[in-house]
Amino acid sequence: MLKRRQDYQPPAFLVISVFITIDIKDDATDVTTKLAVRRNPDAAADTPLWLDGQNIELTRLAIDSVELPIGQDMPDGVDVSDHGLSVAGLADEAVVEVQSRCYPQDNTALEGLYLSGGMYCTQCEPEGFRRIGYFPDRPDVMSVFTVRIEASTAFPQILSNGNLIETGAVGADRHFAVWHDPHPKPSYLFAIVVGDLDCVTSPYVTASGRAVDLKIYVEKGNAELTAHAMDSLIRSMRWDEQEYGLEYDLDLFQIVAVSHFNMGAMENKGLNIFNSKFVLADTATATDDDLHRVESIVAHEYFHNWTGNRVTCRDWFQLTLKEGLTVFRDQCFSADMHDAGVQRANDVALLRAAQFPEDRGPTAHPIRPETYKEINNFYTATVYEKGAEVIRMLAGFLGKDGFRKGMDLYFARHDGHAVTCDDFLAAMADANNVNLDGFQGWYQQAGTPQLRVRRHAGDDVSQLLLSLSQQIPDTAAQTPRNALPISLRLAFLDQQGKIVPTRLATDAAAQDEHVILLTEEHLEQRIYAPQAANLTPSILRNFSAPVVVDDDLSPDERRHIMRYDTDLFNRWDSAQTLVSDEILAIAADPQAAVNSDRIAALADGVSHILDDPNCLDYFKAAIVTLPAISVLESRMKPADPVALFNARLAFEAALAQQLHGHYQAALDPKKSAQLADTAGGRALLNRLLALAVAAGDAQADERAMAHVLDSNMTVSQGALAAVNNRPTVVRESVLSAFHDRWQDNALVLEKWFSFESMSCISGRIERLQELMQHPAFDPKNPNKLRVVLGAFMSGNPVRFYAEDGSGFEFIAGCLIDIDKRNPQLAARMALPLTRIGAYSEQRQQQMRTVLKTVQAAAQSNDLSEVIDKALV
Ligand code: PHE
Ligand code: ZN
Repeated sequence: MLKRRQDYQPPAFLVISVFITIDIKDDATDVTTKLAVRRNPDAAADTPLWLDGQNIELTRLAIDSVELPIGQDMPDGVDVSDHGLSVAGLADEAVVEVQSRCYPQDNTALEGLYLSGGMYCTQCEPEGFRRIGYFPDRPDVMSVFTVRIEASTAFPQILSNGNLIETGAVGADRHFAVWHDPHPKPSYLFAIVVGDLDCVTSPYVTASGRAVDLKIYVEKGNAELTAHAMDSLIRSMRWDEQEYGLEYDLDLFQIVAVSHFNMGAMENKGLNIFNSKFVLADTATATDDDLHRVESIVAHEYFHNWTGNRVTCRDWFQLTLKEGLTVFRDQCFSADMHDAGVQRANDVALLRAAQFPEDRGPTAHPIRPETYKEINNFYTATVYEKGAEVIRMLAGFLGKDGFRKGMDLYFARHDGHAVTCDDFLAAMADANNVNLDGFQGWYQQAGTPQLRVRRHAGDDVSQLLLSLSQQIPDTAAQTPRNALPISLRLAFLDQQGKIVPTRLATDAAAQDEHVILLTEEHLEQRIYAPQAANLTPSILRNFSAPVVVDDDLSPDERRHIMRYDTDLFNRWDSAQTLVSDEILAIAADPQAAVNSDRIAALADGVSHILDDPNCLDYFKAAIVTLPAISVLESRMKPADPVALFNARLAFEAALAQQLHGHYQAALDPKKSAQLADTAGGRALLNRLLALAVAAGDAQADERAMAHVLDSNMTVSQGALAAVNNRPTVVRESVLSAFHDRWQDNALVLEKWFSFESMSCISGRIERLQELMQHPAFDPKNPNKLRVVLGAFMSGNPVRFYAEDGSGFEFIAGCLIDIDKRNPQLAARMALPLTRIGAYSEQRQQQMRTVLKTVQAAAQSNDLSEVIDKALV
């Protein structure tokens, strides 16, 4: 059934408090939800009480302590369906007790209560609670939860949200625990974990002096791998106190790592549950990028305690209220912990590689969707990453203090409530006494706006006329296409590369940088400076708005920006554009010789940066990191991912030839050891080694063999990355050396799986089938499916988009199979196959044909929704 944002109705009843009992036995789990309900004065009178319940068996029902018959003799007014239970004619206040049974051992969807690696755990967001017990499973019903869980003593840990208030034995081999969470919360934040786990504890004292126990629970034997996550948690807690004055609000904060998880992690109140991939990490088993990701996810989930939990969403259309805001907060945190410019480049690279394609494809939607069939399908890069960009623009527009004032008012008004994106905007506007109505458009409209910037001569050399215009594209979402407020950060460089103060009006103050808010379709902006006509504009600095820029800069000017701009983001971005231009030129005409003049000019600019002692190694590495295929696709019509992939390889080889002097550092054991000392150095080392291999340097093979067995995982993985798509003799040895070394570590072996399936050399369908038979592969584990099939689709275009359609057929078969076990994952993994429009007629035909097969076999709402959208 299609749900519409506009159809929101308040709940008929509020749940003041709920007492839950969960009785876990090997063959089944019995759950009772005892609800103290009160009629909601805001809802239409006489509406029945509705309790969601799905894939669970109703076993008992009592109202105000009166037992009611269930099944055939159910009293009038009580109705059960496979979606829930409705009770009409209740008094304004009542106690409703419902018992039900579920089977966690058979739950492969990983929603509700399930078993992972021998432990019981739950995932309730967005609508998983209804698979555990009967309850109004919607985020605007917030209640105080008390939970009594009983299980075998084979599971020593019994965890839930809030505070532990009682434990005890039940007979000889069972025990129980009672947890109470004083903060009212919606059911999606409920969680329990029952298992035999190792636990690491750390004390924390909040700014106001509250003592908090921080605990991380992991599968037995993994305690050693939690230090980084714990440090990250402590840094996040401090940061939120310092930046937003927000403290933690319970005596206990728990993180549990589970191996079977559909997403990254989940912010359940006081009991975050994480994909173990994002907890277990040290420098021997995880790369520096992995460690950064762990830090940012720990921070993200922690930040949700205020933006998400204390103030939550009224309905799921408002998802970006908590997600966009929390991503923005974790991005700012990471920027503060590391280098802000590099962080920005990485965040934008992700936005362009993952969100822009969504806006161009069949599942395009605004950050606040208008309709959905299955809300699970809306945990998207648009809601998250583009949502964060919108918050960033707001924050930029209001300034740091203004944004903070807005946040303070938001919490003052809405703490303990379930609210909307409009409420958020209103708090921001009221706190600053400004009108933010224009920003509404960003919540209503899908599509990536295009910002066109053209320069025209002014009256004389002291003027430059900038003609700015925006265009909102047509998208599958068919949302309005009105002009949006676009923040344009702008500066100007002279011929020596220095920033020149400019004026926006003759009587205005000269400034190094301007922020123009383009609110109309067109704007003619005059720029004044002594030599205005001869300056190079630095446009959209720090990526001040989530748009595609179409400007008239020459390659020389881009190299100038790359070399001299004070905005690190724009230096990186100019390099990306120059690199993309070359790759696209090669892809357009693979037979033609690579243009060595232009590549030499580009290499010269790159060399300048690589030689610059003032540039961070991290930044240097980013400069020689090539754009993703999905980014390149946006500039080719029809897009040919195979040609782009091959062109990118050819370009890298040509660039590498020109950087011979630089990649030597990766070939010299002493110099590489030096680089390998810091995270930035390792990033650079890895890129240089890849260039050496690309250049076909004879010494590179030997270095790759040496690096793969390095004790540092970043260095080791750098070797795999360098050889994976190059037909060098050591390729197979490097991969098998890695495999043999890590075959007993399932988490580390995920890296090997993804390199195998992403290789344009070995990653054939037969190889994928072999990988799926490997002892470390587990078809019920989403991580394993992602590293084989997900990596194949995003990282192996040569095979996935193979001319004969074999890649599409193979994936289609896998999707049908996955859908039977885990619909949420199947729908997510289907997305690359649904992005049809950009490709040649032949590929489109092939994709449509396999999609029809999937459509016919799809069993879930999740998968059908995304496939149906692709086939309209
Ligand atoms: N709310 C989680 C987050 O953003 C993501 C998530 C959604 C996890 C749904 C599981 C299921 O941190
Ligand atoms: Zn989140």
